[in-house]
Amino acid sequence: MSLAASDTQSSPHSSVPPWWRQAVVYQIYPRSFADANGDGLGDLAGITGRIDYLADLGVEAVWLSPFYPSALADGGYDVADYRDVDPRLGTLGDFDAMLAALHARDIKIIVDIVPNHSSNLHEWFQEAVAAGRGAPERERYIFREGSGPDGAEPPTDWVSTFGGPAWTRVADGQWYLHNFAPEQPDFNWDHPDVREDFLTTLRFWSDRGVDGFRIDVAHMLTKDLTEPLPSRDELALIPVDGNHPLLDRDDVHDIYAQWRSVFNSYTPPRTAVAEAWVERSRIPLYARPESLGQSFNFDLLLADFDAAQFLQVVTDNLELAARSGSSSTWVLSNHDVVRHPTRYGLPRPERLAGGGPAVRHGETWLRSRGTDPVLDAERGRRRAAAATMFLLGLPGSAYLYQGEELGLHEVVEIDATERQDPHFFRTAGHDIGRDGCRVPLPWQVSGPSLGFGTGDAAPHLPQPEWMADYAVERQQDDPESMLSLYRTALALRAQWQTSEALEWVESGRPDVLSFRRPNGWRVVTNFGQKPYRLDEGPIALSSTADVGPDDGVVAAESTVWIAPQG
Ligand code: NOJ
Repeated sequence: MSLAASDTQSSPHSSVPPWWRQAVVYQIYPRSFADANGDGLGDLAGITGRIDYLADLGVEAVWLSPFYPSALADGGYDVADYRDVDPRLGTLGDFDAMLAALHARDIKIIVDIVPNHSSNLHEWFQEAVAAGRGAPERERYIFREGSGPDGAEPPTDWVSTFGGPAWTRVADGQWYLHNFAPEQPDFNWDHPDVREDFLTTLRFWSDRGVDGFRIDVAHMLTKDLTEPLPSRDELALIPVDGNHPLLDRDDVHDIYAQWRSVFNSYTPPRTAVAEAWVERSRIPLYARPESLGQSFNFDLLLADFDAAQFLQVVTDNLELAARSGSSSTWVLSNHDVVRHPTRYGLPRPERLAGGGPAVRHGETWLRSRGTDPVLDAERGRRRAAAATMFLLGLPGSAYLYQGEELGLHEVVEIDATERQDPHFFRTAGHDIGRDGCRVPLPWQVSGPSLGFGTGDAAPHLPQPEWMADYAVERQQDDPESMLSLYRTALALRAQWQTSEALEWVESGRPDVLSFRRPNGWRVVTNFGQKPYRLDEGPIALSSTADVGPDDGVVAAESTVWIAPQG
């Protein structure tokens, strides 16, 4: 079987495939990457100081999670000003310096745009609250009267994504809608000011030189809030087919068509990738060239380490990408989910408790990393390396999350008093939340923050002692480290640049997947426990050090790459 996605979708200005189609993009969560001013919080100068590291790693672009002014009610996804830098992270001047330094090393930059909601500290929301009921300032958000005899009940019984009611009451008695935390009021996208202001924001960052945008909850902006509003139960029965009151509405693409004309007014056109948690068949709507151009596929992140599941995910997503003319995106970890070495080191029931890859049942079952009761850290690491090499062989763009190149596990040793994620608080601790994948990176084996910060300040989330074993300093000269594996794999991949096609090669075993790319490179992943004997060689790279170039086998739970013959 051979599946070829179009690789001819070119910019209006060139016939060369756009850079993003097969880029390796490294996600930086700025508050936890590197802290140049030593206050315990990562900053933009910290990123600038680590550009050699990014270049040595071999990434082609970075995506920065929000660095805008924010009260951090949701890790920066509560934006108080879309066109500035949080003073704790730097200034616009620091941003420009960082961008110039990245570009000087040929690394592109994607910034996060959060259009569904602002922070409650955004000046528009402050004005809306101050202006009072009925004032035009309220129209930029979604205010309603409450229900019940004196309006003391929320307009509906809807529940927010982070738990708790989706409405919060202001002093004069009206309620506003927030699909996430109360500090994140949803915008009213029917309002022309909102539409215009985001165009201004896109131009603002594009003019500064950013190469692209990651669009937060891209499927939720437009809403049909015609009265009477449905109840939560009624809402759950409405099909999500383009006309749902809150989700994945067809009319959201009118917004993205406008955005597209802004993107295409630049040379080269700015790129965008949608974070759209929608029914698979609707992903191409976001990935079309007339819309955002690319959309995340989270299927690998949701899959077990299992050959049949990986095969299905790849087959489905290459077909979807071909449908929109976009390229696929592959993701194993990001700032919202349990790191993949940890997921792969846990038995399935725990990992998937609650229906998704977030850790749901408190800290007890993960806390002791391998003894009580279940995390097999070494096995998780081994599988993670295999899955990463499988992913990096695929056509399309690969999104890596900071720290995965170190093989970092999820941090669960975070006391309730130190947790930050609204998910944790709004579920009264039932959902452990996402802090565990956002702990500052260990750069050195010692020091107050393992080299994350320059001073003595404690990092804003605590680093457990074991993190020192994963430090960059420990791995950088060790040829068998995860960091070395990532560096070698990215360097080899850079030589692959090839058309976006993939041909499956029959492996003869259900637990072994094998595919070849048009330039002859072959990827073989053994998901099983028994070694797999190869019919060709030599092995150019193996995800495990127990296999040498001429061994002719793929060890249990590992991946090898075989270079083109001749
Ligand atoms: C998706 C982001 O990835 C997540 O971190 C955030 O909490 C929500 N959107 C709300 O903005």
